[in-house]
Amino acid sequence: MTKYTIRMVDPDDLTACHTIEALSFPAAEAAWASSLEKRINTYPEGFMVAELDGRVIAQVNSGSTCKDDITDEEFKQLIGHDPDGGNIVIFSLSVHPQYRKLGIGGKLLDQFVEHARDMGKNKVLLLCKEDLVNYYARHGFADGGVSASTHGGAVWHEMFLAL
Ligand SMILES: CC(C)(COP(=O)(O)OP(=O)(O)OC[C@H]1O[C@@H](n2cnc3c(N)ncnc32)[C@H](O)[C@@H]1OP(=O)(O)O)[C@@H](O)C(=O)NCCC(=O)NCCS
Repeated sequence: MTKYTIRMVDPDDLTACHTIEALSFPAAEAAWASSLEKRINTYPEGFMVAELDGRVIAQVNSGSTCKDDITDEEFKQLIGHDPDGGNIVIFSLSVHPQYRKLGIGGKLLDQFVEHARDMGKNKVLLLCKEDLVNYYARHGFADGGVSASTHGGAVWHEMFLAL
């Protein structure tokens, strides 16, 4: 595989990011194109992609808040987003199915965490399903327990990484 690069999102990446999102999550959990567009336009400094041969193959996007409660569904539309908040909340990390298990998701996550540290954030937060708790733990996250969130009708764990 040619070497991929990790960079900040560009407005032209919307379609590729939405394709990856739709291929990666059940319909009830995947972000709409309009939500991704809002994240790209409102908080591009919290949105990174991996690119291979000119094609976006993975994405991680986020919002920022001073709150520790990240279960608010409206926050995914960046309602209540505060760019100066101490917490950065990952909404989705996803890799195109053709490029999984190559370490790309892990590298993107690690670089996102470094970027959040450089931004002066205090914590990285996210919600994940049970099967990915160990994955995030391997990347430095602690399990804060089962969340009150019922997003998409699933059970979620609140993961956090203090920077
Ligand atoms: C989770 C995801 C981002 C990982 O990206 P990736 O580039 O394939 O991950 P890496 O190559 O860095 O690491 C691979 C490891 O991740 C773990 N992993 C990935 N998906 C997993 C899953 N659904 N359940 C359990 N472990 C999983 C495994 O430990 C795997 O190791 P293995 O190759 O020994 O099985 C990717 O599988 C994906 O996009 N999944 C769909 C969207 C998703 O669930 N995102 C997370 C939202 S919280």
